[in-house]
Amino acid sequence: MTNAITPRDRLIVALDVPGATEARDMVARLGDSVSFYKIGMELIYGGAGFDISRALVADGKKVFIDLKLHDIPNTVERATRQLATLGATFATVHAYPQTMAAAKRGAAGSSLKLLAVTVMTSYDDADLQSAGYAFGVRDLIARRALQAREAGVDGLILSPEEAEAMRALLGPDMLLVTPGVRPAGAALGDQKRVMTPARAIAAGADHIVVGRPVTEAADPRAAAQAIVAEIETGLTQRR
Ligand code: C5P
Repeated sequence: MTNAITPRDRLIVALDVPGATEARDMVARLGDSVSFYKIGMELIYGGAGFDISRALVADGKKVFIDLKLHDIPNTVERATRQLATLGATFATVHAYPQTMAAAKRGAAGSSLKLLAVTVMTSYDDADLQSAGYAFGVRDLIARRALQAREAGVDGLILSPEEAEAMRALLGPDMLLVTPGVRPAGAALGDQKRVMTPARAIAAGADHIVVGRPVTEAADPRAAAQAIVAEIETGLTQRR
């Protein structure tokens, strides 16, 4: 948990739009209110994601490539090496020990930081059992979080509800990045367990990922600025 990151850099806006035009329009509307964007499967598989990522980096923005890599080690290593050429700040991998070690090798020598996804938040204990796991959600998250630290991965993606416990388990050095964040009064969309930006940051999150409350706001720029103000409040509430 570092205090060196600026409040604005702590907000990562999920650019969950289908194409280049929508992405460019949103980035232009947000202007300097947002410095960090998450580019995910929709924009990348739609074809525009990597060009948009390069353009954002060239423009001085930070980029988080959210492709949640998971394959045999050779493929993950080589895919990560390709992602590292984009100039992105973060990329995601699933928190399997082989996968994380391979991604580390692929990112070696670059500034790309790796974030591990421990257990998808759509999974509950029954889902894990039917998928053949011996652990419930809570235990599997803790096990994988420790394996991620062991693998030298830089941080974790996790629900804000897990931030405090993971911070206590992992200590200050792992980056904790939390989606599932909703400003007070914002629509939940399909998110069920949410926290406000201030609470997520106070609980130990380093960055928060927010999509629709910004991108679907009548005034996205004002929405982003209000979230950054909430982040500032959260920083003052950290223990
Ligand atoms: O629009 P919203 O704020 O819900 O967007 C959150 C972003 O974070 C989306 O890109 C979503 O896919 C991602 N995400 C999430 N919950 C997770 C993992 C990722 O909402 N557990």
